[in-house]
Amino acid sequence: MNEKLEVKNLVHVFNKLEVLRNLDFTVQDGEFLSILGPSGCGKTTILRILIGLLRPTSGVILKNGVDITNRPPASRSMGIVFQNYALFQNMTVLKNVEYALKFNKELKSRSREIALGIIEQVDLTEHLYKRPAKLSGGQQQRVAIARTLALNPEIILFDEPMSALDAATRLALRDEIKRIQEKFKTTIVYITHDQEEAFSMSDRIMVMHSGMIEQLDTPENIIRRPATAFVKEFVLDKLQKKIDSLVKYVNI
Ligand SMILES: Nc1ncnc2c1ncn2[C@@H]1O[C@H](COP(=O)(O)OP(=O)(O)O)[C@@H](O)[C@H]1O
Ligand SMILES: [Mg+2]
Repeated sequence: MNEKLEVKNLVHVFNKLEVLRNLDFTVQDGEFLSILGPSGCGKTTILRILIGLLRPTSGVILKNGVDITNRPPASRSMGIVFQNYALFQNMTVLKNVEYALKFNKELKSRSREIALGIIEQVDLTEHLYKRPAKLSGGQQQRVAIARTLALNPEIILFDEPMSALDAATRLALRDEIKRIQEKFKTTIVYITHDQEEAFSMSDRIMVMHSGMIEQLDTPENIIRRPATAFVKEFVLDKLQKKIDSLVKYVNI
């Protein structure tokens, strides 16, 4: 079976406001799925439900065919990387990555060795003993990714991880995330409101608007056949504008 995650009839209501309206979607094993939509459309709420930080109002989540809707976060084999890194500022890079492993019964005894290996994979070995404040935004985000990878999750969820970074760092980190996915064969659910990011990184894109799925398809199919006016305007027209301004910039 190739379905890593199946989400069925997912509904979430906050204070009578229906934030997620009957979502149905799947994420394939090893897939890079982006969730693309404007601020407030419900993206973070989906991630919080997937990882188990929020109990949905109704609906079911299956992982590898097993219902995990009511399982605690620690038993889901999912990791999350946030926009603001959420690193421990008083700890070195090494300690930040080791920290998560200390609470894992199986990995605890090898925490130093695993942390060193992962830090090397994300190219941060020369910064082992630095604290986060001494690193650039992109490096801090790589520490956050290393910390998540150290626990060897089946699925990594990213919540707008590039929002705080400048354009050049974003490009570099895009490549880094793709490289990591290929190396570790992790399934990725990646939230963004940036059309370019979604189109350059994803196997499929789930376009959302007001708690509903407008279209879920490959980048190619979305470009060829936008399913709704929203997809055409919010996704394709904006993407075209970005490309036009890039072309103009390069011509100068
Ligand atoms: N804890 C909460 N309590 C009440 N409303 C919330 C809460 N979290 C999010 N919302 C509302 O749910 C909607 C979707 O929010 P969110 O999932 O954060 O959107 P996105 O990540 O796409 O910007 C918004 O209208 C937001 O105001
Ligand atoms: Mg959000």
